[in-house]
Amino acid sequence: MKKPPVRNRAKAPPKNAPKKIQKVPVAILISGRGSNMRALIEACARLDYPAEIVLVLSNRPDAPGLQVAENAGLKTLVIDHKPFGTDREAHEREVDAALQASGAMLVVLAGYMRVLTPWLVKAWEDRMLNIHPSLLPAFPGLHTHEAALKAGAKEHGCTVHLVTSGVDEGPILGQASVPVLETDTPETLAARVLEQEHLLYPDVLEMICDVFAK
Ligand code: GRF
Repeated sequence: MKKPPVRNRAKAPPKNAPKKIQKVPVAILISGRGSNMRALIEACARLDYPAEIVLVLSNRPDAPGLQVAENAGLKTLVIDHKPFGTDREAHEREVDAALQASGAMLVVLAGYMRVLTPWLVKAWEDRMLNIHPSLLPAFPGLHTHEAALKAGAKEHGCTVHLVTSGVDEGPILGQASVPVLETDTPETLAARVLEQEHLLYPDVLEMICDVFAK
């Protein structure tokens, strides 16, 4: 008997189509607008990018980044630090419980405006990344663009590093720099650095996930 014609047969993917790969589950912590998170969301949408975002967690209920994450269909959670008062560790124990429950293997701080206690740092040792808007070790802390201008720096930029208990002190995983222009204000400089942040963070996360996947 003649075989019926096969319909809807799956076509072989084009030769240079990106391969679907095993992705490393990643959680992102934010406190604000979440533009770095957005850059990571866009990177993670690529089939051949080695990370998937399993949770976006904010300590601020009004963080605009939450809406960005929700619009992208991601799981979001708010754990407000305010009800915990000065008990930072109690807040972080809840944060940690949510991170563990999400299945995340890596935690990415993207504008998370809390200084972490040694307890949480230890819990995620070597598995927590941060982005900082300066070429560390220059200008740790806040107001880095003002500080770079005030110091007469010729070059400025951003750094992705592992989180350790010293603020902005962990091992450096990647940096990107921009020239400081004579006409720069903190705002124009911040905008140029931010463009670099959006390129650097996905690149470094990719590199780290490749190491993790091995
Ligand atoms: C970025 O400049 C980042 O380097 C710093 O906080 C800012 C967060 O911005 N840690 P966004 O929320 O990612 O837009």
